[in-house]
Amino acid sequence: MRTLSLFLLSLLLLLLFSPSTVHSWKKDEFRNCNQTPFCKRARGRKPGSCSLVATDVSVSDGDLVAKLVPKEPDPDHDDQEPVKPLALTLSVYGDGIMRLKIDEDQSLESPKRRFQVPDVIVDGFESKKLWLQRLSTEKVGSDEHFSSIVYLSDDYEGVVRHDPFEVYVRERLSGDRVLSMNSHGLLDFEQLRTKKEGDEWEERFKSHTDSRPYGPQSISFDVSFYGADFVYGIPEHATSLALKPTRGPGIDHSEPYRLFNLDVFEYIPESPFGIYGSIPFMISHGKARGTSGFFWLNAAEMQIDVLGEGWDADSGILLPSSQKRVDTFWMSEAGIVDAFFFIGPGPKDVVKQYISVTGPPAMPQLFATAYHQCRWNYRDEEDVENVDSKFDEHDIPYDVLWLDIEHTDGKRYFTWDRVLFPHPEEMQRKLAAKGRHMVTIVDPHIKRDESYHIHKEASMKGYYVKDASGNDYDGWCWPGSSSYTDMLNPEIRSWWGDKFSFENYVGSTPSLYIWNDMNEPSVFNGPELTMPRDALHYGGVEHRELHNAYGYYFHMATSDGLIKRGNGNDRPFVLSRALFAGSQRYGAVWTGDNSADWDHLRVSVPMVLTLGLTGISFSGADVGGFFGNPEPELLVRWYQIGAYYPFFRGHAHHDTKRREPWLFGERNTELMRDAIRTRYMLLPLFYTLFREANVTGVPVVRPLWMEFPFDEATFDKDEAFMVGNSLLVQGIFTERAKHVSVYLPGKESWYDLRTGTAYLGGKTHKLDAPEDHVPAFQRAGTILPRRDRIRRSTTQMVNDPYTLVIALNSSQAAEGELYIDDGKSFEFKHGAYIHRRFVFKEGKLTSLNMAAATSGNLPFKSECIIERIILLGHAGGPKNALIEPGNLKAQIEFGPLLLQGRRSSGVLTIRKPGIRIADDWTIKVL
Ligand SMILES: *[C@@H]1O[C@H](CO)[C@@H](O)[C@H](O)[C@H]1NC(C)=O
Ligand SMILES: *[C@@H]1O[C@H](CO)[C@@H](O)[C@H](O)[C@H]1NC(C)=O
Repeated sequence: MRTLSLFLLSLLLLLLFSPSTVHSWKKDEFRNCNQTPFCKRARGRKPGSCSLVATDVSVSDGDLVAKLVPKEPDPDHDDQEPVKPLALTLSVYGDGIMRLKIDEDQSLESPKRRFQVPDVIVDGFESKKLWLQRLSTEKVGSDEHFSSIVYLSDDYEGVVRHDPFEVYVRERLSGDRVLSMNSHGLLDFEQLRTKKEGDEWEERFKSHTDSRPYGPQSISFDVSFYGADFVYGIPEHATSLALKPTRGPGIDHSEPYRLFNLDVFEYIPESPFGIYGSIPFMISHGKARGTSGFFWLNAAEMQIDVLGEGWDADSGILLPSSQKRVDTFWMSEAGIVDAFFFIGPGPKDVVKQYISVTGPPAMPQLFATAYHQCRWNYRDEEDVENVDSKFDEHDIPYDVLWLDIEHTDGKRYFTWDRVLFPHPEEMQRKLAAKGRHMVTIVDPHIKRDESYHIHKEASMKGYYVKDASGNDYDGWCWPGSSSYTDMLNPEIRSWWGDKFSFENYVGSTPSLYIWNDMNEPSVFNGPELTMPRDALHYGGVEHRELHNAYGYYFHMATSDGLIKRGNGNDRPFVLSRALFAGSQRYGAVWTGDNSADWDHLRVSVPMVLTLGLTGISFSGADVGGFFGNPEPELLVRWYQIGAYYPFFRGHAHHDTKRREPWLFGERNTELMRDAIRTRYMLLPLFYTLFREANVTGVPVVRPLWMEFPFDEATFDKDEAFMVGNSLLVQGIFTERAKHVSVYLPGKESWYDLRTGTAYLGGKTHKLDAPEDHVPAFQRAGTILPRRDRIRRSTTQMVNDPYTLVIALNSSQAAEGELYIDDGKSFEFKHGAYIHRRFVFKEGKLTSLNMAAATSGNLPFKSECIIERIILLGHAGGPKNALIEPGNLKAQIEFGPLLLQGRRSSGVLTIRKPGIRIADDWTIKVL
């Protein structure tokens, strides 16, 4: 019976996923808040219903510890079970971080330990702990209630108010609040208990039953951000950068922002619905205070409300602050409270604080920052060869060719379809000969087929996730009946990693890298197209507790496997669809299966910006849109914006028409070629920014307010963005646009990237919308490194000379950086790199060494020279350039080429200064 219904179900699924069906979001496949008991219940609670008070507050092991007990019996709890106190631990770390843990008291008996997510917080973090010595106490108001105060930094302190219980961060001098928790008394913590007669713990959704053997265990609380105009973050949603309120006056029937990793077929733009990834980290920004952040390390399903002003009007709760505030409400199905408060006060400070907890983004290989060509599927070796040579024929650079699921033998990963791909090694070698790479897909669903070596081994060793009754969980995915390896277990991750060795992965070569798709995990016949919540992982952890981090562990295991394959000296490249806090350490992500329409192009920008704010700087959206056939104009616009995504890949669904850049007539080929070449010219800038992200966490592409935190007009802008601190890119998101409005922030000028024309900052410019590019401007006061020679791939650009574009500001000054290394190995971690800082002031350009001179550094040499220096906005009419050392003269020319052959006036060029990038030098402009 079961097999039969499974068979029918799979037929149905085949129909559902078959090419001919009209795609649309299957809303009913997924639960809303009302169908999710913990969410519905939490949303129904009234402010002030938390009756917890903090008692026994003291210092222990450098932390503040306390017990939370109910002041009065909770009227909602009619059972007679004695109420157990909760254990609170508050710790302080360097750089302005406060951590709050609330869990069940470990010394008391409990049916199960609640899950704390391991492997996300980086090793070095604990060493930043500031050991609290003592507490100071202050009296609140006229009653006998106290608050305990801890030192956070010279300017900030943390406060635990005992009764009613509340935690907040405030500025020491002004007493102004920054962040607070439970100020509205919404904290609720459902403790595990033993099942009693009559307890109905099962939950049903559609045809699925969740056995919920441990019963209700949800947690919810309110968090307030002070001096904030907007909140941002908590990816992944297809929605605006500044998060819109989901509850409050005038908002009807809105869902909270859901964090639950799901394979949402045809997701819709502009929705709080949860898609492939989850990062429970929110950032606030405002004119009054600046920036702060709140991160809840918890991998269970989460729902977050942004509460609109006036939501608490009749609650009777008055917060002791006149500052503008954004209130939020956080709900999670399971886990513990492990929350981090970041005090900022600037946008980059908050990102750095978050990164010090979850780790810096990995440094990608150079090739991975260039253009990728993907399709489901490049059919066979001949197709691959054809596409590859067409790029050359049309003079379009590209670096990576991708193979989707059809390259395998029946969706058995690590294998090849031997008819279509009889010579995988030779195929990769041919690409590698042109300096190109290949990426193949490896998904987490393992085909249950006794003749498949991965399955045989995994089932024999007991490496699969178990269902609620303890058998290998069996779900339906691309290969049919499939099981899923349990990546929470380090032993299984290590076993998985070994599968990527050249010996084990037959047909792989050193130029092959990996793509992890479907790792939410996607299960076609599972509840909400994923794994049942009562499935079991290593250590008895329920899937519900781990769900949002499953893909993270899979990404980690794959990435670690590639490092092992390369003997620890080849940077891995792994693209993942699912993501969690910390995914930045393991590789790139993309925004999943979007659609070929203008709204999806539009929403890709805030999606990528949000990922960057939450640590994941290496992301992009499928150029062209995965589902559907883009009109040539949409495809061209997508390439023009995609050229500035940190991760730049064209991709398309199986059933779409072919859409390689040369298939739409000469003019469109030219436009797409131009867009891709722009990216290649700017690669030195991008690579330098990837290094900045690697060191500081500050993302490659940034919201405008990250660079202009005091310019209110930028706070909710998300149709334009910054690349580093120097470039502003404005998207064009409408068909046949004639004009485009561009807001240029700040007081200084901006120079059109192509023509050098100067525009005033601090105003909105209405410009013509040209078909051949999206508007991009270089900010006055910056220096931008470029490489202008067009090659087939990045590997062939290694010895090419550089161009520096100096955009002078009103004080005739500018600064910029260039970072170079071998683009491949980990030797940069031991000093094998060149990092220069260029400073132009008082008519003189100086190149300074930024690399730390540490003994034992590995060498990195480059003979590359600077072939051209372009000066924008120079006030005088200099004739000569004098180069030191050497006392050499170089000629200055006027009105020469700027970008891709366009002629410009008002631009000076120093040609062939003959200086090396690696050296110290100065150039005086006379
Ligand atoms: C940079 O990336 C590498 C991995 O590529 C990582 O090991 C390192 O921790 C990152 N951060 C710094 C500061 O090097
Ligand atoms: C001009 O740029 C330099 C270098 O970035 C900077 O130090 C200086 O403050 C800028 N001047 C103005 C007026 O913005």
